[in-house]
Amino acid sequence: MSNPIALRLEGIHAGYGELNILENIALEIPAKTSLAVLGRNGVGKTTLMSTIMGHATLHSGSIQLFGQSIERLPVYDRSRLGIAYVPQTRDIFPSLSVEENMLVAARPGRWPLERVYELFPRLAERRSNMGNQLSGGEQQMLAVGRALISDPKLLLLDEPLEGLAPVIVQMLMEVFKKLITQEDLTVILVEQSAKLALQVTNQVIVLNRGQVTFQGLSQDLLSQPEQLAKLIAAN
Ligand SMILES: Nc1ncnc2c1ncn2[C@@H]1O[C@H](COP(=O)(O)OP(=O)(O)OP(=O)(O)O)[C@@H](O)[C@H]1O
Ligand SMILES: [Mg+2]
Repeated sequence: MSNPIALRLEGIHAGYGELNILENIALEIPAKTSLAVLGRNGVGKTTLMSTIMGHATLHSGSIQLFGQSIERLPVYDRSRLGIAYVPQTRDIFPSLSVEENMLVAARPGRWPLERVYELFPRLAERRSNMGNQLSGGEQQMLAVGRALISDPKLLLLDEPLEGLAPVIVQMLMEVFKKLITQEDLTVILVEQSAKLALQVTNQVIVLNRGQVTFQGLSQDLLSQPEQLAKLIAAN
């Protein structure tokens, strides 16, 4: 039995104010599967995440979450309906503690605070530390924890491994693998490190200048390093 479609994008043109960045994006992500979004700097990966979340300006096209049109809804309503966004900038509140940073986003559901602490024991140890007293890796764990505690159905991760030490990257990869395979979650993972992203996802798209230039299965692209290199370099 196939899963329902968690997210469907059709004919998306979007950008910032009058500036258009995304050109005619179409996507379907079945529930409980994951999508890698690859592409070099500036091709529109973050703009795609912002468009789904409602921060960017949608010029035309439709966005459906489990069959419901959400393209006219403000960010807050999209969040309430189950989309959580871990932005590239992490956006931790510096003068709130780890625990307070999470509690501002908390909703009753599958991810109570204690469960987030089980996933990230480090956050439990640092629960009273202020946001500005955290390492980059801890900030990223907190950003992911804060997204989970809102009990999302669709989790958007924007370059969550950027600038982190290899040991933290490995730990986060394990967490993402767990979330993608064991949880009732649909995940979009934006990454520069294509190989890492392809290892944990089902489907992949490659963006180039705001357009989808490749769409396929992550496993297939992973086994074709030459094609992957060509796609990523073709900017
Ligand atoms: N707030 C903004 N206002 C106007 N233009 C923007 C804004 N944010 C991004 N852009 C432009 O939109 C284009 C796509 O940027 P975007 O941030 O989506 O790329 P990206 O693929 O996420 O890049 P990176 O890998 O560096 O994060 C770029 O040309 C960028 O300059
Ligand atoms: Mg980006």
